[in-house]
Amino acid sequence: MKYIRVEIKDHIAIVTIDRQDALNAMNLEVISELKEAFESCIADSQVGVIILTGAGEKAFIAGADIKAMQKMKPSEALEFGKSGQDLTRIIENSPKPVIAAVNGFALGGGCEISLACHIRIAGENARFAQPEVRLGIIPGWGGTQRLPRLVGKGKAVEIITGGEMITAKEALDIGLVNHVAPLDKLLDKSCEVAQSILKNGPEAIRISLECINKGMDITLDEGLDLEVKAFSELFGSGETDEGLTAFVEKRKPDFRN
Ligand code: CAA
Repeated sequence: MKYIRVEIKDHIAIVTIDRQDALNAMNLEVISELKEAFESCIADSQVGVIILTGAGEKAFIAGADIKAMQKMKPSEALEFGKSGQDLTRIIENSPKPVIAAVNGFALGGGCEISLACHIRIAGENARFAQPEVRLGIIPGWGGTQRLPRLVGKGKAVEIITGGEMITAKEALDIGLVNHVAPLDKLLDKSCEVAQSILKNGPEAIRISLECINKGMDITLDEGLDLEVKAFSELFGSGETDEGLTAFVEKRKPDFRN
């Protein structure tokens, strides 16, 4: 792949977008390679958590490629928008938790890709924005839908209609990110969060993510029904047996061997 690197160590896949001359902005080629990288990490039984980051110290992703969009007709914009949205669905529906390690600008489509990740950890230098309206366009990779779900409608309206950048600290205060770390400790912090997840049952993690994702779009009663069915279905699996037995035997569970 030309723009994406994947390194796998200790069950953690670090996926890096490397198109630094355009601040990791995403054209169709980058989108397609990133889809391929995610699909391969999801299929790889050695991978338990995926960390997504950008190369360099300046940008996570500075957005969709503005130069590529400049001459698009509505039909091409539809395909481009769908392609980015497909990628966000692959990330969001990943059965393995995805952590965005936001190492700089997360603008437009870059902010939207981070919103599709399950957890966001920002470097102190990170800057988030949905600046699309400044370009006479709107967010097209899920910003109008996922941002209000994450930070509430009022904040999302302000961010999307104002287009201003917000700092890592401001993002933390409104719940847009889970943690802020110094840039040189960002990957360490992301790996620490990943390791705390890796101690736990992969099936229980997969099903928890599924219940949380589906639960965002249904009524509470439907969500509770979904949860209790999933809760019961895990019983009788080797993983549940190991987790409950390990507690009773006063030892650590071994879920991955
Ligand atoms: N698309 C294409 N190229 C981009 C880019 C983008 N989104 N962002 C930066 N670049 C390119 C610049 O054109 C420049 O390339 P050249 O040297 O060839 O001119 C290079 O990256 C470095 O950028 P700057 O010189 O502008 O760097 P800076 O430090 O002065 O500014 C910045 C950094 C504030 C991030 C500025 O580059 C910027 O505002 N970028 C655009 C951010 C943006 O509007 N993103 C949203 C895009 S729309 C979108 O994403 C739609 C959607 O929802 C799907």
